[in-house]
Amino acid sequence: GRIYRKGVFGRRPAVPTNPAELERRGLAAMSREARGYVATGAGMGSTMAANRAAFDRWRLVPRLARDVSARDTSVELFGRRHPSPFLAAPIGVLELAHPAGDLAVARAARAAGVPMIISSQASYAMESIAAQLGDTERWFQLYWSSEDAVVESFVRRAERIGCGAIVVTLDTMVLSWRTLDLDNAFLPFALGMGIAQYTSDPAFRALVSERVASGASGERTTARPTPAAVRSLVRLAREHPGGFRENLTSRVPRASVETFLDVFSRTTLTWSDLAWLRERTRLPILVKGLQHPDDARAALEHGVDGIIVSNHGGRQLDGALGSLDALPGVVEATAGRVPVLFDSGLRCAADAFKALALGAAAVCIGRPYMYGLALAGEEGAREVFDGFRAEFDITMAVAGVTGVDDIGPDSLTADGILA
Ligand code: FNR
Repeated sequence: GRIYRKGVFGRRPAVPTNPAELERRGLAAMSREARGYVATGAGMGSTMAANRAAFDRWRLVPRLARDVSARDTSVELFGRRHPSPFLAAPIGVLELAHPAGDLAVARAARAAGVPMIISSQASYAMESIAAQLGDTERWFQLYWSSEDAVVESFVRRAERIGCGAIVVTLDTMVLSWRTLDLDNAFLPFALGMGIAQYTSDPAFRALVSERVASGASGERTTARPTPAAVRSLVRLAREHPGGFRENLTSRVPRASVETFLDVFSRTTLTWSDLAWLRERTRLPILVKGLQHPDDARAALEHGVDGIIVSNHGGRQLDGALGSLDALPGVVEATAGRVPVLFDSGLRCAADAFKALALGAAAVCIGRPYMYGLALAGEEGAREVFDGFRAEFDITMAVAGVTGVDDIGPDSLTADGILA
């Protein structure tokens, strides 16, 4: 109500409220390389399309004449209550959208009361991001490095900055076939972008030093780019898309980049590795990227505390099913034993409502907040978060429910037919 009135009686929002317009303008605000990296799905983009198609197949059924004057949008996850069912999905290389990147998103998340999942590929060290979050809930998303020491160090740091959970992303053992990035010859990490979590890490730095000392890496490393350097790089990227790579490569700590590319992922990872992590932290462990019910069962057998059904926004396996279509099977396989969260393709509150009706405990907002960030920095990201929350509250009212727990299968129909 508050946001609606402000919009109608006051000034216009800084970023479009309309999702298609937000995406169009958000992408237009980025360099060609950044646009390609953010907007694209893997291969033909068919998984991205399937994500949207899945939302369209399910339709909501409003229920009427129920007292909807008082509504509670809060949800509980791992013993903590959060004001809404929305979290900020982990998104790497936010500096592609805005020089303040994760720092601006953290301030926005704090202002909007949205928990933030800090990415392994963040543009800033997790300690700096956490400082901007205040008391706001934060989780850490882990890409499982081939180096045990780096994994362990990341987890220790995540504990120290007060993370409420570790999210292990399992769908990115290798980077997928991303055609626009290939055509632009653009891999942000190879340019030293999105590796701040590593360059700020003592275990990672020790690896870099070893490599430099042994002559495995040609050049001596320099300190990670300062925020001012990052700002100027992003400005260069905006003004001179053509000269982007050249401008960047001259400033990157080469040995760190080479080391990062080598240790980023552990392609041999299997379920049993989770036991190793389980022994090393008491934080809840979630696995992100699951689609198959049998993988959900395997995750439960290996002691995970939560699952995020996701296909990485269609960025990994091309030709895959829509993420929402994978949700019911995973929910059924977990049988309420652990919370199942959801992301991929979610663009409005009705999408969130559908995911919750199919059994999700909460949902993650992905690209939309990056578009807000690209257009208006912290304010833009905050408006996107606020918008999801406000629209969700309104959606509950017009659908005829007053609490998130009341959102269930009876609010939903498949293929648009109500028997
Ligand atoms: C991502 N995503 C992601 N996931 C993750 O676990 N770690 C990461 O570092 C990243 N980085 C990343 C960068 C960019 C540019 C995008 C668009 C996505 C995936 C993200 O967490 C989430 O699963 C998707 O964004 C959800 O899909 P939509 O809503 O963006 O379509």
